[in-house]
Amino acid sequence: MRLLLKIVPFAQLVEQYGTPLYVYSKKTILDDMRRIEAAFDGTPHVTYYAIKANANSQILQILAAEGLGADVASRGELFLALRAGFPPSRITFSGVGKRDDELVYALEHDIFAYYVESTQEIEVLNQIAGSMGKRARILLRVNLDIDAGGHAYVSTSLRHNKFGLPHAKALEVLRTARSLPHIDVRGIHSHVGSQITKSAIFVKAAEAVAEIIRHLRDGGVPIEDLDFGGGFGIQYHGFIRNKHLPLEHAEEAHLTSTDLLRAALPILRTLDCRLSIQPGRAIVAHGGTLLTRVIYRKETEEKTFLIVDGAMNDLIRPALYHAHHQIVPLQITNAPFETVDVVGPICESGDFFAFDRRLPRMERGDVMALMCAGAYGYVQASVYNARPRPAEILVDKANHTVIRPRETLEQL
Ligand SMILES: Cc1ncc(COP(=O)(O)O)c(C=O)c1O
Repeated sequence: MRLLLKIVPFAQLVEQYGTPLYVYSKKTILDDMRRIEAAFDGTPHVTYYAIKANANSQILQILAAEGLGADVASRGELFLALRAGFPPSRITFSGVGKRDDELVYALEHDIFAYYVESTQEIEVLNQIAGSMGKRARILLRVNLDIDAGGHAYVSTSLRHNKFGLPHAKALEVLRTARSLPHIDVRGIHSHVGSQITKSAIFVKAAEAVAEIIRHLRDGGVPIEDLDFGGGFGIQYHGFIRNKHLPLEHAEEAHLTSTDLLRAALPILRTLDCRLSIQPGRAIVAHGGTLLTRVIYRKETEEKTFLIVDGAMNDLIRPALYHAHHQIVPLQITNAPFETVDVVGPICESGDFFAFDRRLPRMERGDVMALMCAGAYGYVQASVYNARPRPAEILVDKANHTVIRPRETLEQL
C-alpha cells in the first residue's frame, strides 16, 4: 500500500529534491489558522502569529495575506515580518533581552507595541523613544507563577523563570511607567509556556490575568490591552492512524488547540480589553513534515538502530526537549513491527529522533516522515557537523514550490 499523506506527493518530492527535506502543506496551515480564528466566535481580537515557530518568508506571506499580525522576538524577525507584508500596526515585539539597536529599529518602523519584561527595559525604551521624538506603547509581561507542565525548557511562567515580572509588582511598575514621558502604558501580557495540553492551565491563567487587571484598574492604571500569549498545545502522538502503524496512545490524542483557547475565552471576554493572542505552534506544526532516508540498519545485542540522513541539526526538538514526533514510513506495508532507535549521523548520543520506538520494519533506502514538524523545526536547524540545512517545499493543491533551496557546501 502506498501512503500519500493527505494530498502531498511525498515520494515524488523526495525523488526530485532528496532528503532530508521539509515539506509544508499550505492547506493544513491555513485550515489550522482559520480554526483558531473561528474559535473566537466573533469576539474582536488580534492574532499575532509568533514568527519564531516558523519564519520561512513564503509562509509568513501567506499568514500576512490572511490579515494576521506578527509577534517578533528579534530585529531579524521584525525584518522578516515587515518584508512579508505584516503592517507595523499589527506587529508586537516580545522578548526578555531586546538590544538598543533592536528597539531603535522597531521605533523607526512604528510597530504597535513592546511587550516589556523589566523596569530597566522600560527606562531604556523611554530614553530611546525620547531621543527619537517618539512614544512607545507597552504591555507588561506578567509572570503568573503557573506550572504549565511539559518540559522545563518550555515552561515560561514559573517564579524562577527569566520571563516577565512578578504580578505582585505590576501595579508599582506600571504606575511608574505611566509617569514616563515617552511611554504609553496599554496593558498586560502573559504567556505561560508552550505545548500546553490542559485546558485547566489556560483557565487558571485567564483567572489570574483577570485578577491582575482588576487590581491594576483599582489602583488607577487603565488597562486597554490584554495579550494572552500562545502555547496552545497540539496533537503530536498518533497524528496518522493506519492499521499498519503502531497505535500511539497519548493523553493528547483528542487534543485540539481550539478547545484549549475556547476554555479560556469565557473569562477573557468579560475583561473589556482589546484581546490578542500569539500562537505559533498551533498554526504551523501540523502543516510540516520532515522526510529522511534510512542510510543503514545496524543490529547490536542491545538495539536495532535505523541510522537516517536527517539529524539533530535538522530537527533538534527530540534532543532538546525529548519531544515526540510520530514516524511514518513513506511506503506503508504490512511489515512486522520492531523496536528501534532512529538516530542521525552526528557524533552525539543526543542525535536521535526516537528511542525504543515501535515501527514497521524499515530497510536501507526507505524514507520515513517525521510528522508535525512545521513548528520549531527548520527555524532551529543549524549547520553542526558542516551539514547544509535541508530544502523547504510548500505544497499547494497539485503544485509545489521550493520555498528555500537546500543549503550548499559553498554557503557553509
Ligand atoms: C512570548 C511568546 N509568545 C508566543 C510564543 C509562541 O508559543 P507557541 O508556539 O507555543 O504558541 C512564544 C514561544 O515560546 C513566546 O515566547
